[in-house]
Amino acid sequence: MTRNSETRPLGVGLAGFGTVGSGLARLLTDNADIIRRRTGRDIAIRAVLVRDATKAREVPLPAGAELTTDPARLVNDPDIDVLVELMGGIDAARGIIGEALEHGKHVVTANKALLAEDGLALFRLARKKRRILRYEASVAGAIPVVEALKECLAGNRVESLMGILNGTSNYILSEMTASGIEFGEALRQAQELGFAEADPTLDIDGHDAAHKLVLLIRLAWGADYPYAALSVRGIRGMAALDIRFAREFGYRIKLIGQARMAPAGNTEGKPGAPAPLCLEAGVFPALVHHTYLLARVGGAYNALRVDANAAGPLFFHGRGAGSLPTAGAVLADLMAVARDERPNNTGFAEPELARAAIVPPEDWRSPYYVRVMVDDTPGVLRDISGCMAAEGISVAQMIQKAGDGASGVPLVFMTHETTARAMSGALRRAADGGLLREPAVYYRVL
Ligand code: NAP
Ligand code: HSE
Repeated sequence: MTRNSETRPLGVGLAGFGTVGSGLARLLTDNADIIRRRTGRDIAIRAVLVRDATKAREVPLPAGAELTTDPARLVNDPDIDVLVELMGGIDAARGIIGEALEHGKHVVTANKALLAEDGLALFRLARKKRRILRYEASVAGAIPVVEALKECLAGNRVESLMGILNGTSNYILSEMTASGIEFGEALRQAQELGFAEADPTLDIDGHDAAHKLVLLIRLAWGADYPYAALSVRGIRGMAALDIRFAREFGYRIKLIGQARMAPAGNTEGKPGAPAPLCLEAGVFPALVHHTYLLARVGGAYNALRVDANAAGPLFFHGRGAGSLPTAGAVLADLMAVARDERPNNTGFAEPELARAAIVPPEDWRSPYYVRVMVDDTPGVLRDISGCMAAEGISVAQMIQKAGDGASGVPLVFMTHETTARAMSGALRRAADGGLLREPAVYYRVL
């Protein structure tokens, strides 16, 4: 039984009729019977906002909907109850969402970039206006992680999150691993298949995954971890050579988004006061042992592992992008609005989310994979090992291969646990000592 006694169709203003927007229009028709059975109402698109009204569209405009290039048409129409923002980008999207909330409309969006970079102001406005702001599709597409953290795991204390949050990067790394192709060729394939953002630098430089991680941190801990403060490293220029060496050690390279509560020693706090939430969080390529579930996540798929104090470990896996998978998550949000659910936008009762304390990335501890290109001369292995030993780094395994002469020979190390500070210190020593033919490559090992 729903609290909703409304039977008139829920009126939607759809801003954006691209990959996800047109998928939503299709699903509203294909699943109309399910929508009515689950909500007791129909959902009707009243107007569709696009940039270019003359563009040919593969999906027909929904029956009864007007095509417009004027955002005011959507926010001023009294028959529109909900704005669905599927335009992407920051400024125009922020403008129309803000106006819609000001005009008393609920909002559904898939825009992780906007929510990560300026979401707190929008949550504040939605709270003031007592409107719903839902965003299931903004993290991991079809995988229902937003509601899982906000509702299903609300009774848990989340300890850590670790996931593959960008399908484009995962596709590139999977293809490089399976076929041995180089980065540029794999990126071209991903773009042809349509996974990549309009600006693929967001994908390959780790920013798309970072946007999603900021949202996950808010949902898991009710804490603000400013996007600009997040440590972000992507996969641009990843060498097929490192993927091959990682395989020899039994690992796959994945782009990982991770956030975890800092170990006790890293938590600052005044004596007697409750310790502030202190998080270690970032996006980085890492070696994942082939026996881990995350290592087996292939192609454009996404996955998230959550460790929580009551539930224990949970693993979510599915399509993180694509027209219908993403539109299905948008539709579920719309159906929640149609059922007249109360706003629960952040999942936390406090009006403002407190800022998390941040563990500096230089202090993170993990084992490392390191590849250096050196001259094939007597003593070079001793010298490189000496640089590591000088920073207290202990080597666990090593591979040396014959090189082509021109670029030197690769020496590849797997270390025991150390800090990022010690690792960069060791590599600085090696560079300063003239030992490196090209900049060293190093990745964390999970
Ligand atoms: P898209 O295919 O590029 O479509 C964007 C649509 O918005 C187009 O119809 C475009 O109009 C319209 N638009 C863009 N800027 C506009 C403006 N200033 N004024 C009016 N209309 C404007 O984008 P998408 O892939 O569907 O992504 C939409 C959102 O969903 C983004 O925030 C994205 O990050 C998020 N998302 C996407 C996926 C995915 O798989 N694609 C998955 C999860 C989340 P024209 O058609 O006239 O150009
Ligand atoms: N470009 C994104 C990805 C789309 O590759 O995962 C979904 O957010």
